Amino acid sequence: VLLEQEGKRIATGVDPRGAKVAVLGAAGGIGQPLSLLLKLNPHIDRLSLYDIVNTPGVAADISHINTNSVVTGHKGPEQLGEALRDAQVIVIPAGVPRKPGMTRDDLFNTNAGIVKNLAEAAAKHAPKAHMLIIANPVNSTVPIVAEVFKKAGVFDPKRLFGVTTLDVVRASTFVGQTKSTNPENINVHVIGGHSGVTIMPLLSQTGTKFTQEEIEKLTHRIQFGGDEVVKAKDGTGSATLSMAQAGARFTDSLLRALSGEKGIVEPTYVKSHIAEKDGVEYFSTNVELGTNGVSKIHDIGPMSDYEKKLYEAAVPELRNNIKKGVEFVNKA
Ligand code: NAD
Ligand code: LMR
Repeated sequence: VLLEQEGKRIATGVDPRGAKVAVLGAAGGIGQPLSLLLKLNPHIDRLSLYDIVNTPGVAADISHINTNSVVTGHKGPEQLGEALRDAQVIVIPAGVPRKPGMTRDDLFNTNAGIVKNLAEAAAKHAPKAHMLIIANPVNSTVPIVAEVFKKAGVFDPKRLFGVTTLDVVRASTFVGQTKSTNPENINVHVIGGHSGVTIMPLLSQTGTKFTQEEIEKLTHRIQFGGDEVVKAKDGTGSATLSMAQAGARFTDSLLRALSGEKGIVEPTYVKSHIAEKDGVEYFSTNVELGTNGVSKIHDIGPMSDYEKKLYEAAVPELRNNIKKGVEFVNKA
């Protein structure tokens, strides 16, 4: 790998030991297309692909794409340290997906342990990395990573993100379909968490007029968009391709902000003061990203009476999901 990097440095005059992004779970349904999209990202110099299976093949395949980054494949726990070392950004789509009839919380028993182990390795080998958590249930896996980092004495809330981008991507698409407009021009502030009623689209802030029937239908579809895909995939998994695009968008936004670009705002689930008064420690709102990660957490902004009711319904579930993650790491 080092020889390959040195060769690249001489050939291009660019030091490839710049931005290193590691994908953990890189051989999975999300991991593969996400890694493909990240290989196309000019802000990435080194792309490190880790999984417990198949990463040599995925890395060999992606490495043939002629963009200016070096790809390395790492398989199994003994290669995890090398995969993580010096990473600036670590994206985690490792873990099992839902089958029809399951909630995201039903994944907790399997995925909590996977995320905890990966976070422990990250705290050891790349304690300053920005952690982007895709693995479900995001409402709980983000607090799990925080608790692991706290135990290791390396927690910085500015560098931990639950990736909720798919909710805003879906919200734009569904509003665009309802109003027959280009979804790329529609921005919906989606707040809260990433499961069912904890996903709260604030349609009243879009500047578009909706009937109450449209609001209720759209809200339900945005909250349960993941279930549409789970049902259509009929037991073979959940959203992978749209998630890969959403994950690549968030990673790109963060990398641009880290390199000094100003005014980059993405909704993301972070440690936040916004709903603290209701006992909710992690919450998604629009967040301005900067050279150190989280730069400014935006307020919720004005809510309609309907949206205030959504908030009341979301708070207890969010609080329980967070508590479950915190207790998982701190149990005796
Ligand atoms: P998948 O089963 O296709 O892939 C998961 C990958 O994780 C597999 O390659 C597997 O080998 C790997 N893996 C398992 N244990 C591992 C470990 N200890 N270390 C490293 N890799 C490990 O699943 P998927 O469809 O890619 O979904 C992955 C996760 O992302 C699921 O939990 C799913 O619910 C979640 N997800 C989140 C969002 C979101 O919006 N945040 C969207 C879609 C899916
Ligand atoms: C999604 O929103 O598509 C993901 O969280 C996967 C799922 O389980 O629905």
